[in-house]
Amino acid sequence: MSGIVAGKLAFVTGAGSGIGRAVCQKLAKEGATVVAADLNAKRASETVALLEGSDHLSLAVDVVSPNSINEAFVSVLQHYPKPPTLVVNSAGITRDNYFLKLSETDYDQVLDVNLKGTFLVTQIAVKAMINAEVSNGGSVVNLASIVGKLGNLGQSNYCASKAGVEGFTRGACIDLAKFGVRINAVLPGFIRTQMTDIVPEHIKTILIAKTAAGRMGTPDEIAEVVAFLCSNKSSFVNGASIDVTGGFF
Ligand code: NAI
Repeated sequence: MSGIVAGKLAFVTGAGSGIGRAVCQKLAKEGATVVAADLNAKRASETVALLEGSDHLSLAVDVVSPNSINEAFVSVLQHYPKPPTLVVNSAGITRDNYFLKLSETDYDQVLDVNLKGTFLVTQIAVKAMINAEVSNGGSVVNLASIVGKLGNLGQSNYCASKAGVEGFTRGACIDLAKFGVRINAVLPGFIRTQMTDIVPEHIKTILIAKTAAGRMGTPDEIAEVVAFLCSNKSSFVNGASIDVTGGFF
């Protein structure tokens, strides 16, 4: 199969919905074999059913649990001869509330899934690559957010987690370069997915007005950039944060 990631094995979290699902579809279209991982196993298997090509795998994974991620990698290595060299961290949650009403639980959960989950999956995946001596050419792509830079009403926990993902990406980039692994962050703007379906209409109107393109983005438009960062076409892009917002100010 031809394509910019032909012959590669990809591990995608948050693969049951929105951006993660679109990334799985794009990477499969570009020739990769995809492991679609999500807390929601049913949705992950529905994603696999949509993919071009064969031998894709769906797995139930909780990115806040090292045991769950390690078990997933055991399953992956039972299924494929080598571990994945492409990793996309798209699992994410929101627990929005005005700052003075934000509970410690909602703060912790968002930081755990969005930031710690990204760290745990990346570390376990890169260790597997290094152990199997396939790390050279590896690529990790983390879904951060433009609001990590700009802030957003009622999202101080989410903004902190996404700014953290950018810092994590820049720090890890320096450590991982010697193993031939690149790591980058994509910062989506306002994208039409299950995550944004719950945003009240009047807030949607405000967010679209802040977008130069005058509309929400689609998951496919994010997946295009993620696939580029996974591929060797971006071989000198490392530790970067790339806005994909339609111009969000
Ligand atoms: P979504 O809500 O459609 O999909 C997120 C997926 O992550 C779901 O399938 C969910 O089951 C999974 N998930 C949640 N917790 C998990 C866990 N502990 N372990 C494994 N999987 C888990 O969200 P969407 O919109 O596709 O977002 C994807 C990423 O992009 C997220 O990190 C999000 O923060 C980020 N993003 C999204 C934007 C948007 O406008 N939709 C804007 C900026 C960033």
